[in-house]
Amino acid sequence: MSFLSRDLPAIILAPMEGVTDAPFREFITRTGFYDYCVSEFIRVSSHPLPPRAFLRHIPELRHGSKTASNIPVQVQILGGDPSRMAQTALAAIEAGAIGIDLNFGCPAPTVNRHDGGATLLKFPHRIEAIVRAVRDAVPEKYPVSAKMRLGFDAPTAIDENVKRAEQGGASWITIHGRTKIQGYTPPAYWKPIGQAARGVSIPVVANGELWTLEDLRRCQEETGLRHFMIGRGALAVPGFASLARQALGLPILEMKSQLMIPTSTEPAAWADFFTDYSKVQPAGSRLKQLARYLHTKGSITWWDQVKTLGSTEEILGFLTNRAL
Ligand SMILES: Cc1cc2nc3c(=O)[nH]c(=O)nc-3n(C[C@H](O)[C@H](O)[C@H](O)COP(=O)(O)O)c2cc1C
Repeated sequence: MSFLSRDLPAIILAPMEGVTDAPFREFITRTGFYDYCVSEFIRVSSHPLPPRAFLRHIPELRHGSKTASNIPVQVQILGGDPSRMAQTALAAIEAGAIGIDLNFGCPAPTVNRHDGGATLLKFPHRIEAIVRAVRDAVPEKYPVSAKMRLGFDAPTAIDENVKRAEQGGASWITIHGRTKIQGYTPPAYWKPIGQAARGVSIPVVANGELWTLEDLRRCQEETGLRHFMIGRGALAVPGFASLARQALGLPILEMKSQLMIPTSTEPAAWADFFTDYSKVQPAGSRLKQLARYLHTKGSITWWDQVKTLGSTEEILGFLTNRAL
């Protein structure tokens, strides 16, 4: 498998719609901290999607489905109809995808109303049917994985759902340790991830509320797993993935132009980091989004000043202390 090896630990960048888009993936994979990324979900509704729909959202597909730093990007699709999902997965492959991930975790009401995401966790046989249809359509050399929550309302649903996904032919399963009803409210429950993993023979990736080394150690203990996906922590504590790699005995991947993570909370320390991000993501709103995440876990001390600013120029001006 080009993404996940059963024998090697891995740190994976979580898909986050509206956050981990192609510019962000290009930026953050320059750290050398992530073994692969998963794209934001692409929703399949009344018709299968054509290859061009993927090229628009995932430009990496034009370059072997890898970021400029050569980190693989898996394409995530979401939907409830096995045949349309299978045809769409094939279109993604035609567009250049080298791996497909199926979203059974999205809690958004519009998505769930339209028969996609976490709502499918109530129907294990449908999860199996979707995985099987996609697996049958996609050439064997490309992995097909599934990402799911513990359940819709009952966390015990995970045991059956992972087995069904395995029976359908999933290459691995990523589990976010919360139900749909639990949304994003802490804590995440890691023990049920470990229990579900013990019921299948494919690899399982643990996900949810990993922000510190202490979290990682507890998650390792409670799950017995070696593959971890980091979502909000990748933005809020960008150096965490580096510590996680060290703890797992993984090297920092060497990049042509390595992105350095500041160790101080002061504005000037972050000037280069934000300047680099602005080169791939020129929108001031997105720079502010990154600053807001960094603020949530205390990585920066200057959110109150930045939140009043609008443009990229103003934000970079503040960080570099230039007169505006
Ligand atoms: C803003 C946002 C957008 C998300 N979008 C997706 C998505 O497109 N596909 C998906 O499978 N999960 C999505 N998730 C869930 C994350 O991948 C991850 O499972 C969740 O945030 C828990 O991990 P964390 O605690 O490390 O953030 C999203 C989460 C957030 C916060």
